[in-house]
Amino acid sequence: MTKAKIKFDPKTKVFYLANDSISYIFSVEEGNLLCHLYFGDKIRDYHNELRYPRLDRAFSPNLPGEPHKTHRDFSKDVLPQEYSGNQTGDFRTPAIVIEAPNGALATDFRYVTYRIIDGKPDLEHLPHSYVKKSDEAKTLIVTLSDEVLHADLELTYTIYADRPVITRNVKIINHGNDTLSIKKIASMQMDIPLENIQAISLPGAHMRERQIQRQTLPQGVTEFNGRRGTSSHHMNPFIALVRPETTENTGAAVGFQLVYSGNHQFTLDKDFVGQTRILAGINENNFEWQLKPNRSFQTPEVIMVYSSHGLNGMSQAYHSLLRERVARGKFQYAPRPIVLNNWEATYFNFDAHKIQQILDAAQPLGIEMFVLDDGWFGKRDSDDRSLGDWHEYDQKFKDSHGLKGLAEQVHQMGLKFGLWFEPEMISTDSDLYRQHPEYVLHIPGRQMSPSRDQYVLDFSCPEVVDNIFTQMCAVLDQVPIDYIKWDMNRNLTEVYSTVLGPKQQGEVGHRYVLGVYDLADRLTKRYPNILFEGCSGGGGRFDAGILYYFPQSWTSDNTDPVERIGIQYGTTLAYPPSSITAHVSASPNHQNHRLTSLQMRGAVAMSGVLGYELNVNDLSPKEKAIIKQQIQFYKAHRQLLQYGTFYRLASPFKHNESAWEFVSPDKSEFILFVFRILASAQPMISITKAAGLQADANYQEADTGQIFGGDELMHVGLYNLPDQLGDFRAHVKYFKRV
Ligand code: DGJ
Repeated sequence: MTKAKIKFDPKTKVFYLANDSISYIFSVEEGNLLCHLYFGDKIRDYHNELRYPRLDRAFSPNLPGEPHKTHRDFSKDVLPQEYSGNQTGDFRTPAIVIEAPNGALATDFRYVTYRIIDGKPDLEHLPHSYVKKSDEAKTLIVTLSDEVLHADLELTYTIYADRPVITRNVKIINHGNDTLSIKKIASMQMDIPLENIQAISLPGAHMRERQIQRQTLPQGVTEFNGRRGTSSHHMNPFIALVRPETTENTGAAVGFQLVYSGNHQFTLDKDFVGQTRILAGINENNFEWQLKPNRSFQTPEVIMVYSSHGLNGMSQAYHSLLRERVARGKFQYAPRPIVLNNWEATYFNFDAHKIQQILDAAQPLGIEMFVLDDGWFGKRDSDDRSLGDWHEYDQKFKDSHGLKGLAEQVHQMGLKFGLWFEPEMISTDSDLYRQHPEYVLHIPGRQMSPSRDQYVLDFSCPEVVDNIFTQMCAVLDQVPIDYIKWDMNRNLTEVYSTVLGPKQQGEVGHRYVLGVYDLADRLTKRYPNILFEGCSGGGGRFDAGILYYFPQSWTSDNTDPVERIGIQYGTTLAYPPSSITAHVSASPNHQNHRLTSLQMRGAVAMSGVLGYELNVNDLSPKEKAIIKQQIQFYKAHRQLLQYGTFYRLASPFKHNESAWEFVSPDKSEFILFVFRILASAQPMISITKAAGLQADANYQEADTGQIFGGDELMHVGLYNLPDQLGDFRAHVKYFKRV
């Protein structure tokens, strides 16, 4: 293992963090302000060459309290900083805003001291990346202080030894006698002097998650945020900054990923001298935290990655970190089972008999786990009732001696058994609501906004979380369950808690997220043998925070393979294939009624964690045979498809043909996927070039036996789908080194 290095030069006052591939450098300047200097490819040493250019800039104020006419050339307004304040000379977007007891909103934190420690400290009550041994990383904690507010900030930087990764978080401690009202506190800031930056973000919608958006930054503020209570379908808590020339495999890319599942805010503020400020953290909108004396507040973590090998290099660093040092528990590296889920097969309309018929048809095909989705509890015949009543719907399980009987039957068939929950929700038509109407998030005197005819429990209140924990344990202690799908099917409105005082209502959104993490933590610790899958109406809460508790997530309610290619392609920008669950569903597709080949549906779904979500009894013998083959292929290559190195090769957002590839870590085998959406009678020529292979090795393609050089496959490439006509086609080619 290489070493992570952190040093401070007291003469130049420069902090230098480095490993074998990256460096991060910043300094202490006049007035003890922290100045950002560099983040990128490794610099062996720093010779003080790039210090902020002193220049008298009209309208840019000088430091507070500086005597007249001195230091006119030094202003916070243009200083590239590590963490900026408010109303004290910097007019760009601030990292921290605090209301003092007198109503003032100014913040001005200055450098005091630092310490360097081996390893990486845990973040209390928040998900985070971790180390298993202390030599895997080094951590720098820089203390800043605002003497007027009597508060300290601890800026924490961790550099991993063997990864191009730096993580950051911030903690504020109130040392004064007054309560401070935090209006905004970012997890990180970085001001960079580069012109011509492009931002890549992952916007979307329900059933259209994580589309890739790339734009050149204008002067002024560009913001990517989530305000829906969860990380959301609409804007993922991740951005990348690239140069115009950056491609999938070449050029510089810097990623910023928030390890958080609530409201988030990524601000890019390009100033009047062409520098860009990057801020990431909890969204300041609707946020306010009362920080009492001697108390601290911890922000979520941001994972920063630098790649000089294009976007694939950045994504691969995220994939391995999220798999190896964010996900936890026994399923972290375990082969993920092939699921049959009954949702699109039955919706709410099932009973044990019907399920048994589906199982009888599906089991011979080779599936490994059956997941009973929504509808098994309370009186849940439709989506307007019973959320919050986590006990089985007796009538549906008459034929199986209860839910437990069904689970046992599934086990007897040699399959695992999984169950759906939506722990954070409540229906007004439920026993829980009738007993505890106060458990729902609502504002006294105002009507609640329904969504899918359901409401959100006040997870900022520990009693509510305890109630759901107890109910879930009662099921899990009685029924042999191997997997839980944790769903969440609406956004938060009327975000108000009756257990918190009027001044604390700005805390509810964040406390809600902490409540979700608390429940997830307790359940995953108490049931370490259960595999958890996150879900939020598909991929509405697909983020690194959730992946800390649940190693995989339902990617989208859209199971149409054509639209899924884009959704999965975008998702891999920040998240590993082992976290991306994907199901083969019926054709015509239930979401957009498109007819596609089973072959293409299979190819898209096996590019992640494969499952099926259809009524196998509706299939022809030929279709069943195809599914059997798909499952055999997937089982034979599961390690490669779930844990191999993933390369995006051709974007579905740009072309009719798209492609990706999974390469084994030792480069001895790979699988190439090429998809074509529409056929053409006069097709344009298109070629796919592989990536990440051993150039001087030869590879044999399994179906044809043809042999190609690694260099040939990467530089000459292969024609796309020359032998197939018809829309919605996929090529899946397995190659082995010979
Ligand atoms: C939304 C999920 O994404 C679906 O897969 C399914 O579980 C439904 N909820 C059930 O209500």
